Formats: sequence, C-alpha cells, structure tokens
Amino acid sequence: MHTIKILRNSSWKQLMPVILWLTGILPFASYAQSGASVPAGEKGLKDYYKAYFPIGVAVSPRTLKIDEADLVLSQFNSLTPENALKMGPVHPTEKQYNWAGGDSIAAFAKRHQLKMRGHTLCWHNQTPSWMFVDSTGKNVSKEVLLQRLKEHITTVVSRYKGTIYAWDVVNEAISDKPNEYLRPSKWLEIIGEEYIAKAFQWAHEADPNAQLFYNDYDEINAVKRAKMIRLIKSLQSKGIPIHGVGLQAHWAVNEPSRAQLDSTLRDFVQLGLKLQITELDISVYPKEHNARERRPEDNDAAFTPEREQAQLEKYKMAFELLRQYKQHITGVTFWNISDRGSWLDNFPVRGRKDYPLLFDKDLKPKNVYWEVVKF
Ligand code: GLA
Repeated sequence: MHTIKILRNSSWKQLMPVILWLTGILPFASYAQSGASVPAGEKGLKDYYKAYFPIGVAVSPRTLKIDEADLVLSQFNSLTPENALKMGPVHPTEKQYNWAGGDSIAAFAKRHQLKMRGHTLCWHNQTPSWMFVDSTGKNVSKEVLLQRLKEHITTVVSRYKGTIYAWDVVNEAISDKPNEYLRPSKWLEIIGEEYIAKAFQWAHEADPNAQLFYNDYDEINAVKRAKMIRLIKSLQSKGIPIHGVGLQAHWAVNEPSRAQLDSTLRDFVQLGLKLQITELDISVYPKEHNARERRPEDNDAAFTPEREQAQLEKYKMAFELLRQYKQHITGVTFWNISDRGSWLDNFPVRGRKDYPLLFDKDLKPKNVYWEVVKF
C-alpha cells in the first residue's frame, strides 16, 4: 500500500530510477534461478522474423518481473500492455490516473529497446462506470462525455508520447449482428457515431507521430469485415488521421481457412493502410463466439496429439500467409506469452484449460514453434 501511495504521488521523472530498478533488476535476479527455456544467445521469434515484421506479446507488469521476462526478451521485440492501459485500470475515477502498470511496462520497453503498442483508448468494455454518469447516476450529456473522452485520450497519449509508437485508438466498435453496423454502447448511445472520429483526432493532436489503429476481432468473417472496411473508409473520406487496421486474430483450430485468411488480408490491404495482427492466439478448441457454462465434455481439456497437430497446421498456414503479405504487415503480436495462462482459460468456457500459444506452461517452445520459424 505504502509503495502504491508513493508511486501515485510521484512524478514520472522521480519515479524513473525506482521503476528501472523494479523492472530491470528484479527480473534479472529471477532469471538466474529460472530453467531457461531457449538457451541464451539462440535465435528467437524476433530474429527469425527480422526481415518480415516485429513480433510482439501482450504482457502484464507482473510478467516482466518473473521468469517470463527472460522468455519475452529472448523471443519478442514489441510489447502491448494486456490490461494496464485500458480505460478502467488506468482511469478508475474522474480525478485519478493509475500509471504504475503502464509506466513499469514502458520502462521495461525502454530499458530493453523494445517497441511498445498502446491498447486501448476507447472501448465499450473495461470502461470505468463514472465515465458515463453524473453525480446523480444519470447519463451525462453528449458534450460532457466528449470532454471526458478528450481529456482521457489527451492525458494518456501525452504521457507515453515518444514511447508508445502505435495506439489501438478505438477497439471493437463494429456490431457482431449481421444486420447492425455499429455496436450499441454507451459511447454510441450518448455521443453517436462521431465518437470514433473524435477519438482519432484527439489521439493525433496529442502525439502527431503515433500511428493510429482501428482494432477489432472476427475480421475473418466477411460480413463483419465489410463493416470494418466501411467504417475505415468513412474515416478516410473525412480526412480523419487513421494509419492502420489491427486484426485481433483470436483464431482457432477450425478457422480461418487458408482461403478465408487470404481474402481477409487482401481486402484490408485495399485500404492502403498498415496492417497489424494485434492479439494472435489459436485455440485448440473449435471456435465459439459466446461465453457459456461448462459442460461435462469440457472436462476433456488435455493437449492431445490431435489437438496439437490441428493447431500446428493452423499456425503454419497462418504464418505462411503473413510472410507473403509482409510488405503490408508492420507487426504481429501474440496475446499472452505461454500456455501457463491466457484469457482463453476462461473464455468462452470458464475454467477450461486452453493451449493457444507457442510456448508451454514451462515456457519451453512447443512443436508448433519450430513450424512457425521453419521457412
Ligand atoms: C479483446 C480485447 C483485449 C482483451 C481480449 C481478451 O480482444 O481487445 O484487450 O480483453 O479481448 O483478453
């Protein structure tokens, strides 16, 4: 508690030495004791893909203080805070910003010369409840919400100016329902569609050098993809500063097919923007889009040879295509480090273990890893 208080009351400059110590020295102390997964000095993903694109990973501040930091440094050259810079964690009450998590990841990135992506400035999820209401609990007016969004974006983007090179400005604004364009959300309800353009404008004003991305999932679905493209084109036609499209790429053993991924990438390339794969993982279970209760058959959650083979083929195919599109792709980021833990352990089925990444729970490369780096 005491440390948290000190951190909150100190300026960025005062904190730098402390942060560097916490994020730099501690991990190095723990490396010495960890059974290294890939021997030091051996090539990592980032080296195999040097001529293609940076390879990133979503991290928590804690991850960078334990043995996983070793793996991060040997394999990846870009970081995305998994949660630390989402609106809820970073701006929990109107007058309070919680910088500890974002700052410690930023310090680690600087210290080790890694790129850093920002995730995310405006989303319907993990938003703090105060954002949309006044002191009596009623929805605020459009003007007030626009002002709050502007203040949030300006403050967060300014703080990491020069450190975060790319931002997921708006996340998941498109509806999953085939006949609905934009996702119903408090942003849309109170402000209207204009919240999206404003978010990009304010991010650009705060850091004119930052690359600004629209980020969404289920991009492989032709109906949803068409709506993403419609949105991006409408921003482009109004001269809104948008530089890239983030394809989350939460895929599974049964999708996308090669043809589906090829047409997805081809369609987005037409926009003339940078493409990034921002949240890559490949579940070993067939894709389900909605959370549901656990069923008896979900207890069969082992990483069987069949599941391993199906996942291996999907990763191999995906990276073959990503390499083909290298002139358009400026980053590929995995969503979490290893099968030790990922958000898919709780989604769509709470408590069902998944094995979606290239490293196992002991941080050792899985067989699929060697397929991804063999080309
Ligand atoms: C979405 C968000 C991410 C994350 C994942 C689940 O893809 O963009 O920030 O919350 O869901 O971890």
